[in-house]
This record gives sequence, C-alpha cells and structure tokens, in this order.
Amino acid sequence: MEIVIARDAAAVGELAADAIVAALGRRSEPVLGVATGSSPLTTYRALALRPIEWRTVAAFALDEYVGLPEEHPQSYHRVIDVEVTQRLGLDPGRVHVPNGNAGDLSGECERFERAIRDAGGVDVQILGIGSNGHIGFNEPASSFGSRTRIKTLTPRTRRDNARFFSSPEEVPVHCITQGLGTIMDARRVVLVATGDRKAAAVAAMVEGPVSARVPASILQHHRHATIVVDEAAAEQLAGAEYYRFIQEQKHRLSPADDV
Ligand code: GLP
Repeated sequence: MEIVIARDAAAVGELAADAIVAALGRRSEPVLGVATGSSPLTTYRALALRPIEWRTVAAFALDEYVGLPEEHPQSYHRVIDVEVTQRLGLDPGRVHVPNGNAGDLSGECERFERAIRDAGGVDVQILGIGSNGHIGFNEPASSFGSRTRIKTLTPRTRRDNARFFSSPEEVPVHCITQGLGTIMDARRVVLVATGDRKAAAVAAMVEGPVSARVPASILQHHRHATIVVDEAAAEQLAGAEYYRFIQEQKHRLSPADDV
C-alpha cells in the first residue's frame, strides 16, 4: 500500500486528486468509481479544478440505500448528483448509481455488476472508510469475494450516518453495495480518510491482519491502493515515520513503485 500523510483535509483532497488524475489521464474512455460521505468532498473540489475532459468520464457509485426515495436529499442518487456529477460537470447519462427502489433488488445488483463490466471495469475507485472499517457498505464479516448485493447496515453505521438525517430511525436498514470483490477489481484504488474518528480504522486497515472484522484490510491485497490521510487520521499508524520517509524519497521513483 502507498500511504500518504497530508497536513489537513484540503491537502488530502489535492494529493488524492493528483493520484486520480494521473491514473485517469492514461485512459481514452475513463471510468471513475465514486464514493459518498464527507471524506471525499475535498477530493471532488480539487478534481473540479483539474483539466480533465469530464464529459467523457463514466462514473459508478459504490452503494445506495434501499427504500429511500431518489429525490430524498440523503439518497446517494442525490448526493452523487450534487457533489460529483454537477461539481465535475459529468454527463449525467454516464453516471450510474444502483436503484435502491427497484422491484427486483437482486436483479438490480446483477444489472449493476454487468454495467461496470460492460464499461470495461473501473480505472480508479475513490473510497472513504467507515469508523468500523467498512468500504462502500461492506460491513464487518462481508465476504472478501462478494459482488454487488443487498446488505444490512450495522447499528454503528446507522448511528454514524444519523447526522445526515432528521432522526436516527430515518436511516434505512438495508442498502445495495458493490462487493469487496467488485471493489478489488478496480485497477487503482484511492482511499481518503480524515479526522481522529477514523484513526483506529485506518491503522487496522493498513497495519492490522487482513480480517473480515475490518473489511478495508482486504486492500492490503490490492496491487495499487493509495491511502491518503490527514495527520489526525494517521495518529495510530505505528509506521507513520517510515511512511513519511518514503514520501520524502518518492521523487526518485516512478509513482507505481514502492506500493
Ligand atoms: C458511508 C458510505 C461509505 C463512506 C462512509 C464514511 O457509510 N457508504 O462509502 O466511506 O459513509 O463516511 P464519512 O466520510 O462521512 O465519514
């Protein structure tokens, strides 16, 4: 894994955008995997200022709540539309979010997997991380081989996400999420995390055992995962000094080395 420690959330956004643009720039019809949550917001702000032909970029969201109307301000359809599609100037026809209101939810999961495959797979997947180590909505004990499917949210995730809703009971119980196997198929992964609330999950992901208790730890097996964190989220990393040293030395290597 490539661990990049940045000063603050704004610097996380800039460094993550550097990595994303470098990877997208090499493709003629790039496919971007996009995440919701507050963590990637500085990344989207930074990306919006980069000279990319955004109209040619296709995007696939990681997940969506089940049963929340599409027009609800917290549906991931709305969040992706406002924070990603409009901000970057993507072609809405190329932006794909699972339909959490489909009559046949299993069929919808299969359709979504097929759509990613038909687009040629994801070039760069942007990720945040839940305080319990989830990525997408792959909660602890998710199968490492899982594909897009229906999941039940943990009480902790529902509590964490309650801040976006008017009451905790309003947070949906179920969701559709890309699986860990789906996420691992992305050619490159860029995960961003900020704040001390994420420090334990970040340390467990990077330095803990690869374990279903911390779904993000599967990224240790990804061939090119970049983890960009601020000082607060890096607090519990035992190897922080070494990761900073690698960063300082980096200009001597090609960016794909030392992962
Ligand atoms: C949700 C999303 C995840 C996101 C996580 C963290 O659960 N499904 O993709 O990483 O929240 O959110 P935040 O960045 O707001 O802490």
